[in-house]
Amino acid sequence: MAAAAAAREDETASYMQQFDGRLNKYDFHLEEIPRLSHKDRRAEALIAAEKPVVLTGTSLVKTALKWSLPYLEANLGSGDCNVYESKTNRFKYYDDKKLTSTPDFKFVPPTHLRQMTFSEFVTELRQCEKNPKRKKRVYLQQPLNDTVGPAIVRDFVHFDWEWLRENQSRCNWGPLTSNLLLVGMAGNLTPAHYDEQQNFFCQVEGQKHCMLFAPDQFENMYPYPIGHPCDRQSQLVLEEPIDSNVFPNVSKLRGVHTVVGPGDVLYIPMYWWHQIQSLADGEHTTSVTFWYRAGPSPKEIKWPLSVEQKVAVTRNIEKMLHEALKDPNEVRHVLRMIVDGRYSATNWKTPYEGMEKPV
Ligand code: OGA
Ligand code: FE
Repeated sequence: MAAAAAAREDETASYMQQFDGRLNKYDFHLEEIPRLSHKDRRAEALIAAEKPVVLTGTSLVKTALKWSLPYLEANLGSGDCNVYESKTNRFKYYDDKKLTSTPDFKFVPPTHLRQMTFSEFVTELRQCEKNPKRKKRVYLQQPLNDTVGPAIVRDFVHFDWEWLRENQSRCNWGPLTSNLLLVGMAGNLTPAHYDEQQNFFCQVEGQKHCMLFAPDQFENMYPYPIGHPCDRQSQLVLEEPIDSNVFPNVSKLRGVHTVVGPGDVLYIPMYWWHQIQSLADGEHTTSVTFWYRAGPSPKEIKWPLSVEQKVAVTRNIEKMLHEALKDPNEVRHVLRMIVDGRYSATNWKTPYEGMEKPV
């Protein structure tokens, strides 16, 4: 057993070694995400346990492996696509529905969303690539919908839906909600955030460095408050030195990472933080996501709650307070009043003073 585990570690280590010097340097500890054949029982066990794993040898999106830019240009259809434009390599997500809900603060959107055909996008991409300073970057993020042409529909129909259904039912996930097509430039970076869905992240062209952080890293990742347009995003800029006076928990930060290439499928469990960057010395990258809603909550709740359940509870409390009070300063005030008034150690002689523990 130990020998097998060691051999497996070596296998993974040698896999990541080839990227030495090609990835950003990070101050925190990163372990490697296991790479396993999709037929391997251990891969199934990791998915069932909501742990990240890179699945190799799947035919999940085999028919998409030919989705080069000219192929997509010829077959995606003439409908408009969502293209984010950024002045830096960071493409931080924000929810523009939340833009008006923080009256005290002026939010400057970090990226600009434009609509254009795939063909127009390719022209922009080529122009941006030619500019040596890369003062403008583009990142296409478009759900695959019914406007795609017949060849893409055929490729889509031949995705390995049976394998997906098996996983979905084994893991008791809810319905598939969407497939996002991502086409980005070398070096484009999606900053650390978590999604409230399960994700089979399929790499189609080029390579991406994926760093994941378990849900128990919530406090080390410093998420924005729920009413902020950057809800679910980390306030940390991981690729730059982090001020430990401002973010003291950063010394405790621990993650896992891998590089995915064409044909690889990375399972990104719900609530796991992830930061994804197209390798800077490569070409453009293409990925397709499979997002699934969480399954129904278990019939029997067990205490203590799991970290994931606590994140969900925290979100619900924050959401309720934010919706009721509107102003983030008031949310802070009410939370402080509760904690300082009734839950802080200084106001307790013993927990539940005056109550006796049943024998
Ligand atoms: C995701 C995601 C970003 C990217 O699939 O959930 O955040 O740049 N992807 O690939
Ligand atoms: Fe994501």
